[in-house]
Amino acid sequence: MDREIYLTGITTTGTPHIGNYVGAIRPGIAASQDLQKHNYYFLADYHALAKAGDPDRIARSTLEIAASWLALGLDVENAVFYRQSDIPEIPQLMWILSSMTAKGLMNRAHSYKAAVQANVEGGSKDPDRGITMALYGYPILMAADILMFKATKVPVGRDQKQHVEMARDVAQRFNHHYGDVLVLPDPIIGDDTAVLAGLDGRKMSKSYNNTIPLFAPEKQLRKLIMKIKTNSLEPGEPKDTEDSVLFDIYRAFATPEETAVIAARYDEGIAWGEMKQVLFEYINEHIKPARDEYERLISDPGEVERQLLQGAERAREVSVPYLGKIRDAIGIRPLG
Ligand code: TRP
Repeated sequence: MDREIYLTGITTTGTPHIGNYVGAIRPGIAASQDLQKHNYYFLADYHALAKAGDPDRIARSTLEIAASWLALGLDVENAVFYRQSDIPEIPQLMWILSSMTAKGLMNRAHSYKAAVQANVEGGSKDPDRGITMALYGYPILMAADILMFKATKVPVGRDQKQHVEMARDVAQRFNHHYGDVLVLPDPIIGDDTAVLAGLDGRKMSKSYNNTIPLFAPEKQLRKLIMKIKTNSLEPGEPKDTEDSVLFDIYRAFATPEETAVIAARYDEGIAWGEMKQVLFEYINEHIKPARDEYERLISDPGEVERQLLQGAERAREVSVPYLGKIRDAIGIRPLG
């Protein structure tokens, strides 16, 4: 059987935080080192346009995300690592796929519906107020990302599952019309235990502004960890590991044995201040070597750029001929 093809996109709208690390980056890097798998990882910078209009933010985020994955040991020999905007075949394929995408299908996209609902609830006369075609067509660009590389498996968070199903629907419709050209992808949904809470106890997310940046300098890391919400139990009072953000973060980094030791200290009534210190030291130690490499890459963006361009070159070995085949199928062909 052919190797499965895995493909993951990361939207370049923020600074990687420890929630991203535990939920997506760490498993992604482990997968990149698995020679049984064929992996594509890319920076979805065109997708970022649907969410944010700040050019410097997008450029900075692209550098930070690329540097993070590289610093943490992404295997760029085995995996293909590139930037979406370096692959001109992707937006071309998006347009082609638009011709096979029912408008009604896009009306049902959760992200679009949420934006409409926010307008309605906000009392706006126009339900589509402020909604761009980039937001509306977001799933079609994502379908192009996926179908361009014949991905069979797409690891995503629960919130993106519908988008992968839409890619599948669009591919099916295309194939029905033009013959068996596109490969149907399956979503792979990560388990929810990999979701970390943030400083305030809600899901760690850049939209809640409650994140701990993965490569925060030591001083900032300590400061943020000291801010994590706890309850008012005094030192010496036994504490519950359930619903403890400190414990959850510790567990996400530590081995099961180390976690068991900390669970016992909760029973014994470890003070919150001390637990915060333990957590800070653990994460700081764990992250230090990669943080040094990250800082080196951030100060040498040309090196990151070179790596991305190399990745794009490899990606285009697939996308250029395949787009040719797709264009042929739809009747956009050389005339003689
Ligand atoms: N939309 C995804 C997100 O916001 C990122 C993404 C873009 C993606 N294209 C993709 C993920 C293709 C998987 C496959 O998380």
